[in-house]
Amino acid sequence: MSGDVSQRARVHEFRDARAWLDRFAACAPLMVVPGNHDTAWWHAPFGWGEADALHARYREHISAELEPVLHLPGVSLVGLNSSLGMLPPALTWYPRDWRVKGGLTTAQIDAARRKLAVTPPESLRIAVVHHNVVKGRLSKRWGLARPQVQLDALAALDVDVICSGHDHEERLELVTRATGQFVASTANTLSNRMRGHRPSAVTVIEANASALTLRAWPYDASARAYTPGPLALSVPRRPHRSTNAQPPTPLRR
Ligand SMILES: [Fe+2]
Repeated sequence: MSGDVSQRARVHEFRDARAWLDRFAACAPLMVVPGNHDTAWWHAPFGWGEADALHARYREHISAELEPVLHLPGVSLVGLNSSLGMLPPALTWYPRDWRVKGGLTTAQIDAARRKLAVTPPESLRIAVVHHNVVKGRLSKRWGLARPQVQLDALAALDVDVICSGHDHEERLELVTRATGQFVASTANTLSNRMRGHRPSAVTVIEANASALTLRAWPYDASARAYTPGPLALSVPRRPHRSTNAQPPTPLRR
């Protein structure tokens, strides 16, 4: 679950979200990372204040771990917390970006790399980040501050897929950088805040030894079901590097 489980990081919203998430957790292993709406940015505007308080309520009600890792047979998932409120790595020069855009630090990327290092080589590797790492098609907006630098750092992580939310439109894109390659999968939303009055959608990820295939399943209101849609992407599986490259440009700590 790639975040924004609340609207304003209120206690009653987190309690409701917790009950809802428990229903998912009863069906399958669940990992959650926070979104910008789950972040109490007002505790540390521009980095002044208590950064530890940004996710105090989230930690209490949703998950004590902001960057969880989940190793399952055939797949490993690592969470990255891009929802830094108004801490410097998430800021740009444009006030409209403040509290909305995300950021990642070198320390976070390094930690994710260490967590992935124990993954069996044949396993699919997936990173889960709230903010869309590629530009939205309808929104025309990047999710992360300094997106080009972040793409190089994320590609060096040597993951197969990076799953994101935030943009409210499903999107699949093969990202190829000098540092590596991955498929960016931005999810649609399960809320009623659809972009462009489009239906909700889920993205199904399938992999075998030779291929990785992602397909969006939009919600068909007449069938009252999610059904396979035209948006799909299939790429050959590629071996993971035995040692991961370091990001070429240092990110902010
Ligand atoms: Fe968001």
